[in-house]
Amino acid sequence: MDSALAAALAEVVTGLEKSDAFVRLVLSGRRRNMQTPTERVDVKPVLIKGEVKYQISQSDGRAMTTKNYSPPEFIALNLLDAGFANILLEHKSGSISIRITKKGEALVHRTNDLFEVDLSHDRSKARLLDPSDPFLIEVGISDSTGKVKASKNDKYLQVEEFLRLLVPSLNSAIAAGHIAKPTAALPLTIVDLGCGNAYLTFAAHQYLVNQGIPVKVTGIDVRESARLRNNQIAEKLRISESITFFAEEISQTTLKSADVAIALHACDTATDDAIAWAVSAGAKLALIAPCCHHDIQAQMVETPEPWQIITRNGIMKERLGDLITDALRMQIMKLLGYRVEAIEFIGGEHTPRNLMIRAVKTDAAADSAEKSRYDAMIALWKVKPALASLLNR
Ligand SMILES: C[S@@+](CC[C@H](N)C(=O)[O-])C[C@H]1O[C@@H](n2cnc3c(N)ncnc32)[C@H](O)[C@@H]1O
Repeated sequence: MDSALAAALAEVVTGLEKSDAFVRLVLSGRRRNMQTPTERVDVKPVLIKGEVKYQISQSDGRAMTTKNYSPPEFIALNLLDAGFANILLEHKSGSISIRITKKGEALVHRTNDLFEVDLSHDRSKARLLDPSDPFLIEVGISDSTGKVKASKNDKYLQVEEFLRLLVPSLNSAIAAGHIAKPTAALPLTIVDLGCGNAYLTFAAHQYLVNQGIPVKVTGIDVRESARLRNNQIAEKLRISESITFFAEEISQTTLKSADVAIALHACDTATDDAIAWAVSAGAKLALIAPCCHHDIQAQMVETPEPWQIITRNGIMKERLGDLITDALRMQIMKLLGYRVEAIEFIGGEHTPRNLMIRAVKTDAAADSAEKSRYDAMIALWKVKPALASLLNR
């Protein structure tokens, strides 16, 4: 076995042995010429009669089954060696992901992100937001009895999923010193660019306030009707002191700075306006889920060979255009001192727009090889990303 792979697998086993810090293990994909027992295995700790067990959930293609093992029993199952190509382990203070290539080599990625251990036995995730929270009723996700409306269930799940990404990203950025620990005098500042009905804006505010974190939240949307509605809700909830809405174009906003910039599904190049604002304002953390992409799509006129095998199919050309757009956005941020990742925001069953760019400002110097990659990519496709124009790159 490749020695880097052996070392990485040993690190995963060590992580599994520390049952008080273990958060989650996911095994997926199939290694070349190997068969896996199931398509995917998810493992999480659960508390049963006061003892931590590792709960395996796996699907045989028809039904999901779960089984619980003590940590040593689970490790003895040797599932890490069962032919899976992707192994992800999350523990309280970081993660390690291993992708085993066709040649059997390990591509290993580690993070120092902070994760929370969830020992609930219930297969459905413990809720972060109580559906009867007054803000959910006011924004229209829950009905007046405090139940999530059937028509808003996807939105509720999206808001929860967003918090699950925001909170650890925020904790890591604070722990690493990228964001100062918020105080009453210097609260954490968050802006939601293209906030619309402000589901996420209010959710971030309420969740963080409930956690005792001082915050000042601003929502920006070009629509005056959104500003009026959202400010009225804030007044009704008596939180106008710490959450305010403005009717402004993102590119023209009068807001000068924020620690955290979020933008979810801001249409087309409004996403670029949001990233440009975040970079120019020096936001420390940016969570950006892009929406429809037209800018690069429209510029992809001449396809370099051999990419025609993809672009001659309309739907595939569109998806490739989306990927090129987001990859170039990320690369620009990377060159401007951000550590950038693309993460799955919420399962595709809830919205097809499920990619989120997570960027943390580290101020690392631009790497010349990465700059060359960016230059080569835009030269190959003969495109100029809107974000590059906005940032005069
Ligand atoms: C698809 S909605 C998303 C709303 C919200 N972020 C969410 O995820 O629920 C996009 C919002 O962005 C706003 N928007 C689009 N372009 C904008 C711009 N250039 N400046 C400010 N707001 C913009 C729209 O008015 C709309 O409310």
